[in-house]
Amino acid sequence: MKYKAITAIAALLALPMSAQAGPDDDKLVINGEIEMVTKTAAPAHLQDAMDEVMSGWHFRSDETQAMEADDFDNPGMVFVEKALGAWETAEGSEGKSCADCHGAVEDMAGVKATYPKWNEEAGGVRTLQMQMNACRTERMGAEAWKYDAGAAIEMEAMLSSVSRGMPVNVAIDGPAQATWEKGKELYYTRTGQLDLSCASCHEENYGNMIRADHLSQGQINGFPTYRLKNAKLNGVHSRFKGCIRDTRAETYSPGSDEFVALELYVTSRGNGLSVEGPSVRN
Ligand code: HEC
Ligand code: HEC
Repeated sequence: MKYKAITAIAALLALPMSAQAGPDDDKLVINGEIEMVTKTAAPAHLQDAMDEVMSGWHFRSDETQAMEADDFDNPGMVFVEKALGAWETAEGSEGKSCADCHGAVEDMAGVKATYPKWNEEAGGVRTLQMQMNACRTERMGAEAWKYDAGAAIEMEAMLSSVSRGMPVNVAIDGPAQATWEKGKELYYTRTGQLDLSCASCHEENYGNMIRADHLSQGQINGFPTYRLKNAKLNGVHSRFKGCIRDTRAETYSPGSDEFVALELYVTSRGNGLSVEGPSVRN
């Protein structure tokens, strides 16, 4: 099994590798004022595997990096503006808007950094989108938004934008631990015809080129992310789905228990990095 995996990854990785293929040392400051932590010491639970965690920003071209440094150049910010309208719009049978209960968007600063998070009442871990939908269905009498699409991903981007620069800090112990363990198992399980796990690429080979792409650590501190490739905001679960498909394995759906667990685990691999969404990637 192991031999097969090595063969598959060798076939995928472009050769030869050069020194400049590694992550760069640039600094990200947004709008000339928000200083971002894009590299930091790995969280304790990861220290056997790697010393340093890095945002995917370091693996992108100078042009793509520059787009994220200024809100006027960041195409994801258009959707943040759109979500601001939705935040203030009353919807559902209760005739309430998000703002009616939560006040100004800026009052939500810091929230994104703690999600996915255990919810006592629900008896489970909730992603930010699940929490938003709980507010919609249980408190507004409105319909749930479709996962990782349209209004949901725009609102997530907006909530992220007000937390930019704050350190990702998800809890992985206590009641969230079982979900975290499940996510960890998914991360390290080899699947598909290519017999690869997330770790095969994002832990063992980051910094290398794969096809024409510069492999990052697969961090999600920058989500939602605006991708130049599909010219829209992309959610974490949709990204997971794409990566799993590339290994020619059966995948899970956005919003599934498996992806919620995987999101908690992958988020925790970036504990200490700045919240960066909406980021810009290729
Ligand atoms: C009727 C009041 C009400 C409305 C309207 C409402 N919420 Fe909430 N929301 C709450 C309450 C109460 C909580 C905290 C309790 C809980 O965990 O459910 C909460 C929690 C949250 C949280 C998690 C905060 C945290 O610190 O973990 C987010 C994010 C959120 N709401 C987003 C939204 C969004 C987006 C909308 C509009 C689509 C919305 N809410 C509409 C009452 C509301
Ligand atoms: C065959 C190699 C491969 C495997 C296996 C793989 N990915 Fe990826 N992944 C990529 C490539 C290539 C990219 C695009 C370049 C980059 O950002 O690393 C990517 C991008 C990502 C990104 C976006 C990072 C950013 O900064 O925007 C995330 C998140 C991610 N992968 C998570 C995962 C997870 C979780 C798994 C396991 C379910 C996985 N990947 C499996 C190759 C892989």
